[in-house]
Amino acid sequence: MTEQKLRELLDDLSLEEKIGQLVQIPGWHFEDSAAVTGGDTQADAQLRYKPLAGSTLGVLGAEKLRALQESYMANHPHHIPMLFMLDVVHGLRTVFPIPLAQGGGFDPALAEECARAAALEAAVSGIHVTFAPMCDLVRDSRWGRVMESPGEDPLVNGLMAQAMVKGFQGEHCGEKDRIAACIKHFAAYGAAVAGLDYQNVELSEQTLREFYLPAYEKGIRAGAELVMTSFNLLNGVPASGNPWLLNQVLRREMGFDGVLISDWGSIGEMVPHGYCADLKEAAEKAIHCGVDIDMCSGAYAGHLQELIAEGKVDISLIDRAVWRVLVLKNKLGLFENPFKDADAAREKELVLCKAHRELARRAARETAVLLKNDGILPLNPGEKAAFIGPFAADAPLHGGWAIVGRDEDTVKLKDVPIEGAVYLPGCTLLDNGMVYNTGSYWEEDHEAKNAALLQQALEAAKSADKVILCLGEHRMQTGEAASRADTRLPGVQRNLLEQVARVNPSIALVIFSGRPLELTEQEPLAKAILYGWMPGSEGGPGLNDLLTGVCSPKGSVPMSFPRSVGQLPMSYNHMRSGRPARNPAQPFVTRYLDVPNTPLYPFGHGLGYTEFTLSPIRQDRSAIAPGETLTAKVTLTNTGRREGTATVQLYIHDVTASRVRPVRELAAWQQMTLNPGEERELTFQLREEMLRFPNAQGFASEKGKFEFWIGLCSDTDNGSGFELL
Ligand code: BGC
Repeated sequence: MTEQKLRELLDDLSLEEKIGQLVQIPGWHFEDSAAVTGGDTQADAQLRYKPLAGSTLGVLGAEKLRALQESYMANHPHHIPMLFMLDVVHGLRTVFPIPLAQGGGFDPALAEECARAAALEAAVSGIHVTFAPMCDLVRDSRWGRVMESPGEDPLVNGLMAQAMVKGFQGEHCGEKDRIAACIKHFAAYGAAVAGLDYQNVELSEQTLREFYLPAYEKGIRAGAELVMTSFNLLNGVPASGNPWLLNQVLRREMGFDGVLISDWGSIGEMVPHGYCADLKEAAEKAIHCGVDIDMCSGAYAGHLQELIAEGKVDISLIDRAVWRVLVLKNKLGLFENPFKDADAAREKELVLCKAHRELARRAARETAVLLKNDGILPLNPGEKAAFIGPFAADAPLHGGWAIVGRDEDTVKLKDVPIEGAVYLPGCTLLDNGMVYNTGSYWEEDHEAKNAALLQQALEAAKSADKVILCLGEHRMQTGEAASRADTRLPGVQRNLLEQVARVNPSIALVIFSGRPLELTEQEPLAKAILYGWMPGSEGGPGLNDLLTGVCSPKGSVPMSFPRSVGQLPMSYNHMRSGRPARNPAQPFVTRYLDVPNTPLYPFGHGLGYTEFTLSPIRQDRSAIAPGETLTAKVTLTNTGRREGTATVQLYIHDVTASRVRPVRELAAWQQMTLNPGEERELTFQLREEMLRFPNAQGFASEKGKFEFWIGLCSDTDNGSGFELL
């Protein structure tokens, strides 16, 4: 539709119709089985808007959505199509590894491919908008939603956001088989105090701008059509009603002019936060902050009309919001084709198709991280392996926020058996208790059951050459509202490991989890640890490719593994105190009395089945002025006996600055695959732009000394220096 026609349409709408465009109502009002989160606080107010609601979420299926669109439009006074939204976070029915795993792949092109395939499955199933990518920076693995984030580094986070937006939207969200992307959760939702979901966030403006905002901005610059506000207070002000954050930072500074949608009920939640007296005030505050769509709180449905009548909200604010929603519908091409790509025949053909399964398998093997290997992996042909643990049996692999994924579509390790291997659960997945949303309780006789499972496992372990112990968290132990104060493996699984280690110490641990778990006690009992994350629909075959040595692991740690949960929050790019612990025996320095300051596994760490060495850095100059480039070279050599891929990382540190800079920051990386004995020169270019940070000059570099390192993880000492003139 031309812009002029769209303007005419807007002008012709009644006030009720306009408000309707700003009201999103839960999918369960249209069908029984909609998969959505949160409560329905204002069902009555929202239901009045059912015939006019501009969007819904959580309903899926080409036929269903075609029928819904048809009947909705037939009854709508201006026949405006409805938007269908859904959380397509790491796949639709074909589930890819969780976004945290994808961050650890350090491979934006792979993330883009996964998003593209997810968009295709969603598009043919009738979806127009995904609530992804989630770009919240995370430093605290107690928070359940770390699984949805690419991790703790602003650069990785931003490049993944950009890649995923491209994967979902293509060049334009109106293209065939593409959907619109929504950057979330704006802003800093990942910094919840003590890792507790929905908690307050306290951040200095410096920290917010330097670490937390860049990834959202990259996603927006990549063209994301929507942004979602977050649940949290930011320094005392709820994100969904924060004029500085939304009007100033998001709209003015970042120049975002697309649709801003609240999170589920987050406008209404400004009341219990203690920021608004009632829903009416919440609606008033949110619309003044440019929140265009109210996701399911009922505040807009219940109160916008009244607020306009009372003169508290100017109609121009409503028109602006409606305009953005109409523009999005127009970009998606819905005025010409309200069904977009919804197509039952293609849905049948493409959802879970072979190509997507192959991609899921590749993604699972390319994002798993080999944390440790004393030579026990890969398995050698003819070796007798005992696969033991809940994840060697039936535990689900598709992770939280795979809301359409199904366990029965998932290929597990036991479904692709290795010749001669046995597969046994060894114990139940969970300790006594219930995991949020799962309803899984221990059966009455859990102790007897576990005793029998353990006995069986020990017998198998005794007679095996190697034990592949497949342990981890329940998929619903991460995700929304799944914070944990104790991030160790469930006790019953820790016990299994200890018991097995007594009868057979040749143990390779394979961990399935949505967060970096605290593994300090388990690490010494394992000769190898392969971190499989929540690997998705093809987790079994993907990890099997690694365990059997068909491929070599190449993922890296996207989020520091703490030695103890007491170290959290942590990240490699921290500041240095005035008393750094250079000598751990020295008193009165920055250190814990009971654990080292360092992580168990640092950011960027990841092994393969070969070994790499890196030469010292060779650089062409020792100083640069703005506009100049320093070229730094290293030689990477595969000194092992197998092919492998190294992720070579460049870190920079500004030695002194007007604001203290992190001890090191990732500035670039390159992935390189080499054959045994092969060597390759890698070139990194350092420029003034890479040295900028928020300071009194805005976003600028400061002259002086810099250190830099090129290594295979953040904890490298392969360093050098230069000066910025
Ligand atoms: C989550 C969002 C999600 C929304 C819709 C909320 O509970 O925080 O990430 O997009 O629900 O499902």
